[in-house]
Amino acid sequence: MPPQTLVANNLSNKEVETTSRGASVEFRALSKNYGSFEALRSFDLSIRSGEFLTLLGPSGSGKTTTLMLLAGFEFPSSGQVLIGDQDVSRVPSWRRDQGIVFQSYSLFPHMTIGQNLAFPLETRGLQKHEVAEKTKEALQMVRLDSFADRYPSQLSGGQQQRVALARALVADPPLLLMDEPLGALDKNLREEMQIEIKHIQQRMRLTVLYVTHDQEEALTMSDRIVVMNEGQIQQIGVPEELYERPRTRFVAEFFGDVNILPGRISGGRFEAADNAFGLPVQALEGEACGALRPEKIAIQEGAEGGRKMPGWAVVPGEVIDVIYLGQMCRYVVRSGGTDYIVKTMVSPGVARHAKGGTVTLSWDAADFVLLQ
Ligand SMILES: Nc1ncnc2c1ncn2[C@@H]1O[C@H](COP(=O)(O)OP(=O)(O)OP(=O)(O)O)[C@@H](O)[C@H]1O
Ligand SMILES: [Mg+2]
Repeated sequence: MPPQTLVANNLSNKEVETTSRGASVEFRALSKNYGSFEALRSFDLSIRSGEFLTLLGPSGSGKTTTLMLLAGFEFPSSGQVLIGDQDVSRVPSWRRDQGIVFQSYSLFPHMTIGQNLAFPLETRGLQKHEVAEKTKEALQMVRLDSFADRYPSQLSGGQQQRVALARALVADPPLLLMDEPLGALDKNLREEMQIEIKHIQQRMRLTVLYVTHDQEEALTMSDRIVVMNEGQIQQIGVPEELYERPRTRFVAEFFGDVNILPGRISGGRFEAADNAFGLPVQALEGEACGALRPEKIAIQEGAEGGRKMPGWAVVPGEVIDVIYLGQMCRYVVRSGGTDYIVKTMVSPGVARHAKGGTVTLSWDAADFVLLQ
């Protein structure tokens, strides 16, 4: 047995804890193979104490695999997992101090809510009065203190998920792992729970590793987001950074509607492939591709509109589609060989552009993001 494994196996729960409230986490060159399939490839990531970090990516990108490695339900094929400064790569789940919430609530159906919460505390050998106190506190935290005597089947999906959250937190772990915990809930309830979880995390200064494939959820809740694809990190950043400055087409497209505009850079200018516009850029010469968010484009009636200012692109076009989205209006405008998606706020008293009409689109070079 390598010495490192010996040390890790001798850790008790207490030793894995760090002194500050939330634990810090580090993945070093982590890989996980299932047979010949590489589910995770050389994954490096640090999670700060008290940070809310989200893994975001399409189905099969390795999000759950990463979470399972941190939870100790799976062990890495190579590389290391550190909690605080302890190597826990080979420490089984039951010896790690953490709370876990999955998409399915996994409450014990034959136990009341109170008993469900008491269970992890009793197995740790806490005194009866401590168990009662902590159970009550945890239920208060998710606003379900009057439900202690009910059975899980007597609760709604949202309430059951709040119990699952309370159970994950009842033993006061420094680390909380959540894998699509809100996936089974409807939109309103999901949004309510997002805010609730965020408040609890901030109040308890918990470190959270959160998994979702919903980009809006990731943007709302996270301090930082890790975008994953095929077992690798595509980009790490704060929500604004990933949305406003995506580095790759994959990341740009993962965060909703975006215009991908191919072209060529020469002499400090980007020239669109369809010759519709040019913009000043600072980048190496050659083939290039830019991303432009639909809400960064101004749309004006007629062929002669547009902000004719240095550093702005101006293109005329025809409205070929209009969709009313409530707060926003989504247009598709054809200009030359390109269909631009444009989104504008719907304002009272301002007429919308009609399908078939001529409009001018314009945008600032600062909002045009060159992709790698
Ligand atoms: N036990 C296993 N044996 C073999 N392959 C596995 C195993 N677990 C996961 N995989 C594979 O590893 C890849 C990553 O799976 P993972 O569950 O981490 O994806 P995910 O990002 O969580 O996806 P989803 O959003 O669908 O939950 C997938 O291709 C999956 O089929
Ligand atoms: Mg998964």
